[in-house]
Amino acid sequence: MAIPDSFIEELVARSDIVDVVSDYVQLTKRSGANQFGLCPFHSEKTPSFSVSPDKQIYHCFGCGKGGGVISFIMEIENLPFRDAVAFLARRAGMEMPDEGDDKALQGYRARLLELNRQAARWFYDNLSRPEGAGAVEYLKKRALTPKTVKTFGLGAAPDDWYALTNEMRKRGFSDQELLDAGLSKRGKGGGLYDVFRNRLVFPVIDVRGSVIGFSGRIIGDGEPKYLNTPDTPVFSKSRNLFALNLAKRTKRGMLILAEGNVDVVMLHQAGFDCAVASLGTSLTADQARLMARYTQNVVIAYDSDGAGVKAAQRAIGLLEPAGLKVRVLRMEGAKDPDEFIKMKGPEAFELLLERSANHVEYRILAAKAKYDMDTDDGRLGFLREATQILAENPSPVERELYAGRVAEMIGVSAEAVKSEVRREGRIRAASDRKKREREVMRPEVTAQPAGKSIRYGNVASATAEEGIVTLLMADPQLVIFTGELRAEDFTSPFLGKVFSMIKERFSAGEEITPAVIASRLEPDEAAHLTGMLQRPVNLGQAREAMADYIDKIKTEQLKRTGDRDLLAVREKYQKKKGLGG
Ligand code: UTP
Ligand code: MN
Repeated sequence: MAIPDSFIEELVARSDIVDVVSDYVQLTKRSGANQFGLCPFHSEKTPSFSVSPDKQIYHCFGCGKGGGVISFIMEIENLPFRDAVAFLARRAGMEMPDEGDDKALQGYRARLLELNRQAARWFYDNLSRPEGAGAVEYLKKRALTPKTVKTFGLGAAPDDWYALTNEMRKRGFSDQELLDAGLSKRGKGGGLYDVFRNRLVFPVIDVRGSVIGFSGRIIGDGEPKYLNTPDTPVFSKSRNLFALNLAKRTKRGMLILAEGNVDVVMLHQAGFDCAVASLGTSLTADQARLMARYTQNVVIAYDSDGAGVKAAQRAIGLLEPAGLKVRVLRMEGAKDPDEFIKMKGPEAFELLLERSANHVEYRILAAKAKYDMDTDDGRLGFLREATQILAENPSPVERELYAGRVAEMIGVSAEAVKSEVRREGRIRAASDRKKREREVMRPEVTAQPAGKSIRYGNVASATAEEGIVTLLMADPQLVIFTGELRAEDFTSPFLGKVFSMIKERFSAGEEITPAVIASRLEPDEAAHLTGMLQRPVNLGQAREAMADYIDKIKTEQLKRTGDRDLLAVREKYQKKKGLGG
């Protein structure tokens, strides 16, 4: 069910863009109408990210991103439209409109999330109470700073069988809720007891910012080392990743996949804010797809023992089919990222990251694992895939080296594999060349005045169309001078869509602001629109300008439909008009 327009409008009105953006970006007021800051969407040293309090839009002159307050949240929190709306609604204290879902279940889930949130807060607060002294000590021993503890909301479960259960009961949560959230269990005598006792607690927070579960590490030695929340109505271990709520905002352009919670926390502390881990299970296909929503590149930083290497190979087999480019780190002399960073420092890890080329050996082994190497078909399939992997490797030394290895695995001569790789290389080069040629020869010109990915087939017409939209956004009243012009006359579907939105909203007496229009567009469209709106508009001769734009659109239309006589008459007339005026 779509969210009603009226709700969106109220939400946008109640979510001042300067206010919302300021949660993420430090803005400075300058003389002009706009406020500026460092763009959160790309790395930069001088501010090119502007926010307009009047228009209630943002636009980055560096990377071209832009839109209204909803697009901003979609972009920065990496949320789909509906979730971004819900996010802002929560912020603005508005209740989301009834979504027609099973309302009871939804209410119950919200209740469990609230219980989790309060439990997380309680665990955290324990660190400043005597019950948390052991955990505080342990955190020190593991060199985790108070800032890190706060960022992750780490906490302490006291050495007590009933502390959390009793506390949450006091706050009005029922036994059933405690059981369903996985925080309490029922003992033999029938009473409830705490699941997490004498543990360092890691809350698991989903990408929307809800505490969905917990992972508790024993303080010191003991079994089991970790206890995790079982699957509950709000938690699915196999579909979430630890720390993705933080890592999704990284500017590193990749995610680092580690094995342990402690590794992830230490990586973040050392400046690798893109680290995540699967939650006490081996990686799942769901988790691979989840990662693919946020990045194209994954670097596996599993433990360096035999189990870690095996797990890495397995992970590659899940990550690559999800469309991810995978690299594997090799941490020599340390068992995991935590130890590596403690021993050699963040710089050494950074270097490792840079050097971790798309690791050929892992990819070849992963390919091999897919085929039955005892059959000719299997060996041929493997050869084909290995050839692909090698052909895209830019290093001749590595190609040579691994061609030899592949040859050994299949039992053919190294020369045979190498010649296959060369052939594949030639095919690739030829297809790249063709692709480039096609791009050069493409008749339509790409106009990129502002946003990045809106392409115009007819630049002359589109320029006039942009002119019209810009004028209308500046003064919607001008709609009355657009006369017979229809959205179908626009050559750019995007501009046509904006035009008809403006027309419809105008006749319905609805608000026409950049922020409201942007909230109804795709992200790249919103960005393009805000880019257009950065240009100065002269409303002094708006009527004349409007007429000229419409004329231009009609002329281009005639050129296409090919009524040459009409066109000739028209051109003659325009020339005359030009000479006369
Ligand atoms: P590790 O044993 O490598 O833990 O297990 P770690 O997080 O690196 O902790 P330290 O550094 O030894 O203190 C990796 C992950 O496997 C899951 C946890 O998610 C852990 O972070 N695990 C491990 C469990 O779920 N249960 C266990 O008993 C052990
Ligand atoms: Mn570990």
